[in-house]
Amino acid sequence: MEDKRPAWSSRYTFILSAVGSAVGLGNIWRFPYIMGQNGGAIFLLVYLGLILTICFVPLFAELAVGKITKKECVSAYESINPKFKFLGILNPITGILITSFYFVVGGWIINYILLSIENAKIANLEDYFANFTQNSLSVCIFTLLFLFICILFTARGVKKGIEFANKILMPIFALILIALTMFSLNLPNANLGLEYMFKPDFTKVNAQMFLSALGQALFTLSIGMGALLTYGSYIKDDKNIVKSTYVIIFSDTFFALFAGIMIFPSIFSFGLEPSSGAGLVFITIPQIFAQIPFGNIISAAFFILLFVAAITSGISIVEVPVASMIERWNISRVRACSILFIVISLLAIPAALSFGVLSNFKILDKTIFDLFDFLTANILMPLNALFLCLIAGWFLKIKGEQFIKNKFVSFLFDIGLKFVIPIILALLLYIGLK
Ligand code: PHE
Repeated sequence: MEDKRPAWSSRYTFILSAVGSAVGLGNIWRFPYIMGQNGGAIFLLVYLGLILTICFVPLFAELAVGKITKKECVSAYESINPKFKFLGILNPITGILITSFYFVVGGWIINYILLSIENAKIANLEDYFANFTQNSLSVCIFTLLFLFICILFTARGVKKGIEFANKILMPIFALILIALTMFSLNLPNANLGLEYMFKPDFTKVNAQMFLSALGQALFTLSIGMGALLTYGSYIKDDKNIVKSTYVIIFSDTFFALFAGIMIFPSIFSFGLEPSSGAGLVFITIPQIFAQIPFGNIISAAFFILLFVAAITSGISIVEVPVASMIERWNISRVRACSILFIVISLLAIPAALSFGVLSNFKILDKTIFDLFDFLTANILMPLNALFLCLIAGWFLKIKGEQFIKNKFVSFLFDIGLKFVIPIILALLLYIGLK
């Protein structure tokens, strides 16, 4: 089995695909609205602090466990100790649950691309968003379409599918993002948006903000569901994963900042509210497009940007259960993808319907969509990251000195992996569950 495993063609395509996984809806949809809800610049400061200090360890550990074991998640955990098999299984399960709501948003994006191309004039975007998300049939169709596109790339394999998608889509993503940011910075009063982003108000610091920032950091870096472990397992032996970790963290942060610089100046320039929540890019931003010349073209570019970002992340999530099925059950990639298509559909459709016919169906006082979001981002991802650090530090005995030259940094890494990060993650889980 070992030699049949896929591998990246080069270090470049590995990093590109890992960055493609990290940069997604987390950066362009979730980051600006969470920042808008948490007071702007001060949130950014806390978030950057966490990304630069705490996130290095679990991200690096995921890549390292993948690279060292050269196995998909379940077998990787099992090979360290057969008792950990169950913890390994949590990774593809988390992935499947993430796709079940992430792909619904993917479906909404497809609808907004079509709307922009049609140049539809919508009088009240808030009502439109509410009505559209309630319209069960079209939301289901678009969600399944989004799922199908992700599965199609994954079914073609690591080189022909995953690498290919990232090689084409990531440059398109970067170009559209740069163009839209330039546009936004040239709007009147753009400086108000920049002030909101970069001038912190220290009176707004609170514990909840730290929690939101840490949850956002894990989600945006794809930590805690096996995507980076699986991608790491396709690395050939000679790759330097410390550098790769830095590149992934810096690129993701860079793209999140760019997304903020694209979004906040336009919001302030048009006198809109930055704290409108999850509807920010579906309600607030389209209000801007409605008021400017060639707004539909810019709107199409914006939603294509979101689409591309979501596809490259979606592919990485889907790859986790696919790799597990191929290696554990010894089935072909196409068969694994077909099974997964059915499984995700069965979960994503109820999630898509939770804005329409299933809006009153609640578990733990949450609609299915909210439940999947809460379960994954607030519980399963921190839990998986916690187990991963403990297993990597205490059982696989990964030591900083194996990879990091600087003695002090390597010492900090060891302490972080075995003690500090697990304690912080446990705390996050405790507060989140209270
Ligand atoms: N990091 C991705 C984003 O920012 C989401 C993701 C989570 C991808 C977990 C893979 C694994 O949108």
